[in-house]
Amino acid sequence: MTYADNELRAGEIAVPLPSETDAGVYFVGTIRTPWKTRAECPKRGSLDGPLCAIVVDPRWHQALTGITAHPRLQVLYWMHQSRRDLVLQTPLRTMQTTGTFALRSPLRPNPIASSIVVLVDVDGATVHVRGLDCLDGTPLIDLKPDRNTTD
Ligand SMILES: C[S@@+](CC[C@H](N)C(=O)[O-])C[C@H]1O[C@@H](n2cnc3c(N)ncnc32)[C@H](O)[C@@H]1O
Repeated sequence: MTYADNELRAGEIAVPLPSETDAGVYFVGTIRTPWKTRAECPKRGSLDGPLCAIVVDPRWHQALTGITAHPRLQVLYWMHQSRRDLVLQTPLRTMQTTGTFALRSPLRPNPIASSIVVLVDVDGATVHVRGLDCLDGTPLIDLKPDRNTTD
């Protein structure tokens, strides 16, 4: 089961969102994965999971220069199908009502997700990786070397 629009589970609280955002984000690409629904997605990526493609927009292609030197990357992405107004959530897995900032749930005021992935190869502006957990079509925010595998 996933959220129907505006449905709240027991214990959940939503708050009114601010009327304006405080900053803008440039989406720099699109992530292609095998998962079309939230229910199909793994809760967290696995480094031996399926091959996924991070397709960087042509404008940012040159920003990939040097990336193959890094066996692991941190991928930041925007959970574009998330509601953003929950302060208390009741995950189905635990049914424990918990604050949003104490969870890795995709439902958050700024639905930014992060995964460490294994870099498999780079083909033009497409970076093939394993370790993601997001829907096909999820917008890419950023790529960085994983600091734990970078000098
Ligand atoms: C628990 S979150 C973890 C995300 C990331 N690894 C993190 O820790 O920040 C992963 C879940 O988010 C949901 N999800 C994936 N892509 C999404 C998207 N584009 N919009 C909304 N929810 C998404 C799926 O239910 C998936 O199982």
